[in-house]
Amino acid sequence: MSKNYFCMAGKVAVVTGGGQGIGEAICKRLAGAGAKVGVFDMNAESATRVAKEIDGVALVGDLTKEADLARVFGEIVSKAGPVDVLVNNAGVASRKGRDVPIWESVREDWEFVLGINVTGLVLCCKAVLPGMIERKYGHIVNIASIAGKEGNPKMGPYSASKAAVIALTKSLSKELVGKGDICVNSVAPAVIQTPILDQLDQATINMMLSKIPLGRTGKPDEVAALVHFLSSADCSFTTGFCFDISGGRATY
Ligand SMILES: NC(=O)c1ccc[n+]([C@@H]2O[C@H](COP(=O)([O-])OP(=O)(O)OC[C@H]3O[C@@H](n4cnc5c(N)ncnc54)[C@H](O)[C@@H]3O)[C@@H](O)[C@H]2O)c1
Repeated sequence: MSKNYFCMAGKVAVVTGGGQGIGEAICKRLAGAGAKVGVFDMNAESATRVAKEIDGVALVGDLTKEADLARVFGEIVSKAGPVDVLVNNAGVASRKGRDVPIWESVREDWEFVLGINVTGLVLCCKAVLPGMIERKYGHIVNIASIAGKEGNPKMGPYSASKAAVIALTKSLSKELVGKGDICVNSVAPAVIQTPILDQLDQATINMMLSKIPLGRTGKPDEVAALVHFLSSADCSFTTGFCFDISGGRATY
């Protein structure tokens, strides 16, 4: 007898950066498991395309802008209901062509990457947490990176931002103890084949690839499978953890 494990029927999920790459795969995976998915992206065309494919809700906005966040999270609640699952996936690797050593970096390099990867992520959490606490239920999955564990050269702002994501996942999970069944976890992928790689030099990509024992890039669907479990009610006794998905690069 087959069972519908990791069922998401009746759940409302918001996936930031859902318009392409890993986020798109997560949207499709969660929708395939029965969730109503809000596809949140600053790129209106891709958010609309993905939402149409999965019968979800296109949420167009910039997650660094609080006015956009208020509008977007208002839209999903009015169209689909309170948010059960938030996947903080949107992120940037660097300003175009600015994967440079830290001594060559400028303030804008840091503000750009940290503003999206850390501050934007926190603002999205703040948008859904009061509702999750009120209903005593929720799952938040933050997409970090192996760079946040190891510190990739020429990716200082990115590595620091992803270490912050891993740490704030732990802080938040502890703050939520006693507030209901709310689990917060992070995921640390190594190189996954998506358009984000266009932001980096080929030499930086080759360096990262050479460190993966399985000898290949990961696929967005592989990350989505892990995120699916962490978004589901079956993930009930794990919180604050960082899950590796790096083809064997991280063994801790
Ligand atoms: N691809 C990899 O090798 C890899 C490895 C480790 C971690 N990650 C992380 O996975 C996540 C997704 O990466 P990806 O490779 O799919 O990226 P991607 O560049 O392919 O897609 C990112 C999406 O986020 C959206 N976005 C960016 N800034 C936004 C903002 N301010 N507001 C709203 N939307 C915004 C973009 O429009 C885009 O659709 C990121 O957090 C990234 O750091 C990726």
